[in-house]
Amino acid sequence: MLMKKIIIWVIGIISITLILYMIIVNPFSDEYKVKNKFKEIGYSDNEISEIMKVIPEEDYNIILKRNYNDSLIDIITASGFKEEKLNEYLDYYEKNSENDIDNIITIVNSDYDLANYPASSLLTKLVNEKYYIDKNVARYLDYGNTHEVSTSKIVSLVNANVDLGFYNYTKETNLNDGNLVLVNKFYYLSGDYEPDDLVSLSGQYNGGVNNKMRKEAAQAFMRMVDAAILDNIIIKNSSAYRSYDYQVKLYNNYVKRDGKDAADIYSARAGFSEHQTGLCTDINVIDSSFEGTEESKWLINNAYKYGFILRFPKGKEDITGYKYEPWHYRYVGQEAAKVIYDNNLTLEEYYAYYVDNN
Ligand code: DAL
Ligand code: ZN
Repeated sequence: MLMKKIIIWVIGIISITLILYMIIVNPFSDEYKVKNKFKEIGYSDNEISEIMKVIPEEDYNIILKRNYNDSLIDIITASGFKEEKLNEYLDYYEKNSENDIDNIITIVNSDYDLANYPASSLLTKLVNEKYYIDKNVARYLDYGNTHEVSTSKIVSLVNANVDLGFYNYTKETNLNDGNLVLVNKFYYLSGDYEPDDLVSLSGQYNGGVNNKMRKEAAQAFMRMVDAAILDNIIIKNSSAYRSYDYQVKLYNNYVKRDGKDAADIYSARAGFSEHQTGLCTDINVIDSSFEGTEESKWLINNAYKYGFILRFPKGKEDITGYKYEPWHYRYVGQEAAKVIYDNNLTLEEYYAYYVDNN
């Protein structure tokens, strides 16, 4: 009788213990299995509880299936870690386990689809660049791996297509871009293109033979000249709209005089000259002696207020493909001109990021 009672008690206690064990520890739960796996890897209880805090319950399954790594704690404690991206970090880490965790975190956090690009410090720097454009990433990496230049320069040059080679990759420009139309050593205008709203500059606004500009640009130019006069600065157009045929003769003369390579640095080939857009003007002296003059300085500091930009700036020759032209101003409208001025951009850089970035 007593024996029976003892057996019942023992069975009862064992059952209750088992039930409690099942309830509290629940060895069949994913949570338990996940913890156990971490233990096998060698994590301490503290580390495991830290990991468990950030792994969402619905991800336990994925974690268990994963051939996962012992860097989870490094990922979780890295600065910039975002809980909702845990799986992406792990996916990317699996392919790039040799790489720095900070690179993994930054590249995944960028929100660009870079899963197929190996992690590297170059890629990390690139995604942090202000003017990074996702569709150009393979070209950035190619360029960066073969040239010793800063990452911001890589982004600028590739955005401007310089990696494809001046006059090597060319494309008809998009006239729908209006005042922002890009004409350079990559984008050309057809031989028969002539703007349909050219107006003549005259009087105090003009000092040259090629005196036509598109209407809006001409009006802005006149406003700029009027404002400059109030500061005792006299500026005039010296060369604005030039037809395709005119540019053919001009360029050919320069080639005859200086040779093709030299001419290409200061003169555009026909179709590739912005002068054919009717949106630019060479002001006062078309010569390097214009640099440093009061007029040149006034223009550098004020032209953007009227929608004009210095089109071929000093220090950006590798992007524009032209030597510094202190006299050549291009109308782009006030909004773009201010962004370009404030951020020290060329039209190439602006266009790639703000106009053609989709
Ligand atoms: N001088 C500029 C680049 C032109 O020829 O259009
Ligand atoms: Zn010019």
